[in-house]
Amino acid sequence: MPHVLIVDDEVGSAAGLRDWVCAEGSSCVIAPRLRQALVQCALQPPDWILAAEQLPDGAGLDLLDELGSEGAASLILMTDRPSLERAVDAFRRGAADYLSKPVDTARLRELFGARVVQVRSDALRSDQAPQLFGASPAMQTLRDHIARVAPTEASVLLLGESGTGKELVAQNIHLLSRRHRHPFLPVNCGAISPHLIESEIFGHEKGSFTGADRQHKGYFERASGGTLFLDEVIEMPVELQVKLLRVLETGSFMRIGSNQELHTDVRIVAASNRDPEAAIADGRLRLDLFHRLNVFPLPVPPLRERGDDIGLLALHFLAELNAAHGTAKRLSARTPSMLQAYQWPGNVRELRNFIQRAYILSDQTIDAQTLGPGTTQSAATSLTLAVPVGSTLADADRRLIFATLALCGGVKKRAADLLGISLKTLYNRLEEYGSEPAAAHTGSAAEERDWKNAADIVARGSQNFFRGT
Ligand SMILES: Nc1ncnc2c1ncn2[C@@H]1O[C@H](COP(=O)(O)OP(=O)(O)OP(=O)(O)O)[C@@H](O)[C@H]1O
Ligand SMILES: [Mg+2]
Repeated sequence: MPHVLIVDDEVGSAAGLRDWVCAEGSSCVIAPRLRQALVQCALQPPDWILAAEQLPDGAGLDLLDELGSEGAASLILMTDRPSLERAVDAFRRGAADYLSKPVDTARLRELFGARVVQVRSDALRSDQAPQLFGASPAMQTLRDHIARVAPTEASVLLLGESGTGKELVAQNIHLLSRRHRHPFLPVNCGAISPHLIESEIFGHEKGSFTGADRQHKGYFERASGGTLFLDEVIEMPVELQVKLLRVLETGSFMRIGSNQELHTDVRIVAASNRDPEAAIADGRLRLDLFHRLNVFPLPVPPLRERGDDIGLLALHFLAELNAAHGTAKRLSARTPSMLQAYQWPGNVRELRNFIQRAYILSDQTIDAQTLGPGTTQSAATSLTLAVPVGSTLADADRRLIFATLALCGGVKKRAADLLGISLKTLYNRLEEYGSEPAAAHTGSAAEERDWKNAADIVARGSQNFFRGT
């Protein structure tokens, strides 16, 4: 029988929770202060701790310092005022969950039932956690909206230019939702061949079409309990949009070649870098599907509207490279303001690529005057690509695609236009050739006076940066 410790000085809510816990067949004690909680932990180590975020003698999260990582995994933080920053902080420090009051008992039952001591396995708690950097008002608003919508079941439609971080936002929504222990499945609707997309999404039975030599579970089944991220949703063939709408409305679907209805419990986050209204007018997006997805539209701001974040992100990406390579390269004093003056059509992805390029080309100090994104781009337009005779066609194709993407600052639509292929074909090729390399995280120190504070923030780690300056 699990033993539960409730750490809360709000007598009424603590007693209500205790009654529920006892009715579930667990033993339970209440400690109104951290000090008493520690005594209780020593007397009878609890399987679960439900701690209020704020207590008279400290923060509920402070218990984590006493408990170590094993104990931390059994701590559920309860709050009156949910905040994205504090939720991320709690998860990062290993808390099992972050719940708003009054606590959803169905969620507690789920947690208690899962295992007595949870393993620290969530993506958000690992080093892979997606970090949404930035302290600008635009990013603060975005984070506030993420915090509000994440715990709900509402479908979210992310709208923003290419490279603004829509996928990162989608991951954050998932990880801050109660579905975070279940899969987050990104599906690039523009990248799957139209012939396969239906079977990819809904699955198929063995023998349902030529080549279907075994049963296949589609995305809806594989994402069960979790979040399905429908990226580039406007690229989905219109015929399929009807079927998607049906699943979203009824919660049920059938594998191709089967008459059996399957039920799905999946939250939808969709994204597009195109104007949905124009797509509706062109007949590429069904109005009814748009309404179904657009329950909570969330604009992701372009980088050029994020002010100082541009310099901060540049420092962050440079810090990652310095850490990965054991170097201490810096930005020149004028670089951040120069970067800020540039328009960044490829947004954060373009900035990251630019810093990577500048890092390789610079010895010690990166200077945007000599190496600016604008100058690099105009110089790049005269770039030629030398492909050795004897290369395979596939190799030449791969090189040309990557070079064109680099020239376009990572903006796939522009690269596809330049290459004279459809966006879909470009995605297919990129999937075939592998994706962009990932980098590690850590701090840096820039010596420039104006940017010293910013560099300090980056050096102190992402959580502080995340909170804003
Ligand atoms: N706020 C941010 N902080 C740190 N990295 C970011 C941020 N926003 C975006 N990135 C990085 O920029 C790159 C592009 O982000 P992402 O793939 O999420 O963009 P997107 O909007 O989905 O782009 P596309 O429309 O082309 O698919 C990724 O490497 C991502 O990690
Ligand atoms: Mg994306």
